[in-house]
Amino acid sequence: MGMTEKEVGMTEKIEIATLPSVTRNDSIKNDIRGRIAMRPHFLHATRYSILDTIQRGKKVLKGKKILLGVTGSIAAYKAAEIVSLLKKKGAEVFVIMTESATKFIQPLTFSTLSENSTLDNLFSTNDKIVVKHISLAQWADLILIAPATANIVGKIAHGIADDMLTTTVMASKAKVIFAPAMNKNMISNPLYQQNVEKLSALGYEFIDSEYGRLACGETGKGRLANIEDIVDTVEYALTFKNDFQGKTVLVTASCTREPIDKVRFISNYSSGKMGFALAKIARVRGARVILITGPTSLPVPTGITTISIESAEEMKKEVFKYFSEADIIISAAAVADFRPKEVFAGKIKKEKSKNPLIELERTPDILYELGKKKGDKILVGFAAETENLAANALKKLKEKKLDLIVANDISAKEAGFGSDKNRARLINSKGTAQELSLMPKIDMAEKILDEIIKIK
Ligand code: PMT
Repeated sequence: MGMTEKEVGMTEKIEIATLPSVTRNDSIKNDIRGRIAMRPHFLHATRYSILDTIQRGKKVLKGKKILLGVTGSIAAYKAAEIVSLLKKKGAEVFVIMTESATKFIQPLTFSTLSENSTLDNLFSTNDKIVVKHISLAQWADLILIAPATANIVGKIAHGIADDMLTTTVMASKAKVIFAPAMNKNMISNPLYQQNVEKLSALGYEFIDSEYGRLACGETGKGRLANIEDIVDTVEYALTFKNDFQGKTVLVTASCTREPIDKVRFISNYSSGKMGFALAKIARVRGARVILITGPTSLPVPTGITTISIESAEEMKKEVFKYFSEADIIISAAAVADFRPKEVFAGKIKKEKSKNPLIELERTPDILYELGKKKGDKILVGFAAETENLAANALKKLKEKKLDLIVANDISAKEAGFGSDKNRARLINSKGTAQELSLMPKIDMAEKILDEIIKIK
């Protein structure tokens, strides 16, 4: 066993190869009726950082101390990119490599990029270094293990501390995040899955690996997550409390479209901004989020299962498909209340029907039907009102068996449909009301979630 800490110079030029990224075609799965259903870690073609919209330029990582553990995976070279990005964002980085990681990439690479020595051994002739794992364990604001092998996950899950990385993790109280990379059969192995479950229950976090071509030549799940997603996750962890961890939150957003004929529909002005803001904040506060959205021009957020629908009927179908998985359901969508009783098969020719009459019927009231099945789930609704805000909202809260309703006065200036801001009154099932003054929807989402987490 080598007995020295490896301190490496910083002269080597580093070239980082990049594997072909997942294509948009890989990332889109056709759902019912050919519409697209996006899945969380397949979204790089359209990816954008949740934090970009949340932090609005705040430097979350500036001065933060990140300990990066690199383990023996072919993806170890990608850890160099992680160090580079963390440093670019102002973090202080220290790298610990496992012995097998050093077979894939030289410590010199990490020392150069991190501007710190890289450790790969627990034992050293230097007394100061013998206790390094303790000082590093205390130094770190966060420990990121990327790539994480099945071996490191198994060792930490079983309290094994036999090298610099495992002893440091064991001695640290900092949050630990794993970004696994391995063969698809290893990932689906029940032993590995049990270890992940055990660690997740203890508050360790896992960044889902991606589907794609694996180093072994097979295609499947196991590739290291996108580097930017990994760094985003580090930023979330250092920014938000994790109070929604372990909860599944289902959010509906935007409008629905009820077709009149092949080219026309009935809809409303909901943009999806309020619903997307709730989905994003729930996600960064640790929830697993399912976002069911009507048509919107907003980009699909990463890390959120996003399902696109058009009509109220489709939204209802998707909501009930995921109902059993959800702990909390937030209905921010402005579901069209009416739809044409009959949908014309082609395009109604204006020359043929000068004053066409369209007979309307009610769409399903999704939230009302959810209320009937509620059980122990938390149900949150919105009310878009132009008059008698409190009375109308309270009526909806009771009829739909809600725990909380967000009452919007949509006639208010700068608020409501399409706006980046909102003004609302939160009313809970006891009838207690709280005024939320005009504020960005992303901030309002935080306030709404603060109330939701207090329920029960
Ligand atoms: O998307 P934005 O541009 O950001 O705008 C946000 C918003 C103003 C649309 C949003 O904050 C909002 O108020 N959404 C609910 C609008 C609405 O449909 O309100 P409602 O009072 O008609 O419905 C009451 C509740 O029942 C809502 O939670 C709604 O999602 C639900 N509902 C309504 C009708 C229906 N057929 N099914 C439903 O589930």
